[in-house]
Amino acid sequence: GRTSVGIVGGGPAGLMLSHLLQVSGIDSVVIETRSRDEIEHTHRAGILERDSVRLLVESGVSDRVLHDGHEHRGIELRFGGVSHRIDFQALVGASTWLYPQTDVFIDLANARVRDGGDVRYGVTDTAVVDVTSDQPGMLFTDVDGVEHEVRCDVLVGADGSRSMTRSAVENRQEYFRQYPFAWFGILCEAPPSAPELIYTRSDRGFALISQRTDSVQRMYFQCSPEESVDDWSEDRIWAELQARLAGEDGFTLKEGRIFSKTVLPFRSYVCEPIRHGNLLLAGDAAHTVPPTGAKGLNLALADVRVLAEVLERAVLKNDKSALDAYTPRALSRVWKAQYFSAWMTTLLHAVPDATEFDVRRQLGELSAVVDSDHGRSFLAESYTGWPS
Ligand code: DHB
Repeated sequence: GRTSVGIVGGGPAGLMLSHLLQVSGIDSVVIETRSRDEIEHTHRAGILERDSVRLLVESGVSDRVLHDGHEHRGIELRFGGVSHRIDFQALVGASTWLYPQTDVFIDLANARVRDGGDVRYGVTDTAVVDVTSDQPGMLFTDVDGVEHEVRCDVLVGADGSRSMTRSAVENRQEYFRQYPFAWFGILCEAPPSAPELIYTRSDRGFALISQRTDSVQRMYFQCSPEESVDDWSEDRIWAELQARLAGEDGFTLKEGRIFSKTVLPFRSYVCEPIRHGNLLLAGDAAHTVPPTGAKGLNLALADVRVLAEVLERAVLKNDKSALDAYTPRALSRVWKAQYFSAWMTTLLHAVPDATEFDVRRQLGELSAVVDSDHGRSFLAESYTGWPS
């Protein structure tokens, strides 16, 4: 087979790219090892930046986010048992949207079906070959056991944090940082405890109260990377969350049946460059951020917005030099997001062997942010997303 752009990975990055390319009149084939059903049931983050919402709506994927999503005009930073509102609209005139990544995926997958996109789920034995030639290829076996070879002008690796395509980027530098903690994530049947997200710093560690629907809530708390979900009964989880959210202001966390428990990995990672010949990486295949600040999906969508633009020039105008701009343009945003995600993490998490100085320094930093219009604006601008 043949197509203009071969896309390895059918998560949000791969599907959004395939959609944007079709809008520009460029054909593509997407291959994905998981089934559609499996991706739809993998819980990920739930916050979209302003420009991610715009991209979904204005490129014609779907406007469901505007009806089923919830606009959040700010967040709460909670420490010392008191909540401090960061008013995004007042500070920078922007909002974020609570809209789970699973819904973003469903909208993209439906749009690909609606528009006749070529997406092969459940493939095996995937490989990329000849990435520095004019005819790079992707190999795979489809769900019926038939082997395929698709030759293209350009290959895109959008195959997630355990990327296979990344290893074809010879001479890559890999930059990363590990953290001495992880997040314990739950889903529970309860009404929301507050209208907006609450990012909490406590002496017992970080906690985040997020939401999903009127009757389902998403919450996280800092834990050890070796934590086992089986050691945490519902009672123990609620006691820990209540202790971290406790304060004198009368805030109460609403409890309910917990029906999902997972420990989330935590690290910062960047691959550089993110192009080798006619192979380009996008999303988690190229970089990973710690979850604090919910930048992962938003960065993936920002990558493919840039990628669609350079591919348009590379494919339609047959000007491969257009690909040169991809690494510097994408990575300038990526490093800002790496900085912001690491900063939000450090601002709010308890370091296992922190000194009394470290603890007071962290509280000083939190006060410096919330007591200043400039500090709150910095957080608001970064959280809602830098303009492209
Ligand atoms: C969610 C996850 C995040 O990492 C975050 O910063 C905010 C919200 C979520 O899953 O809802």
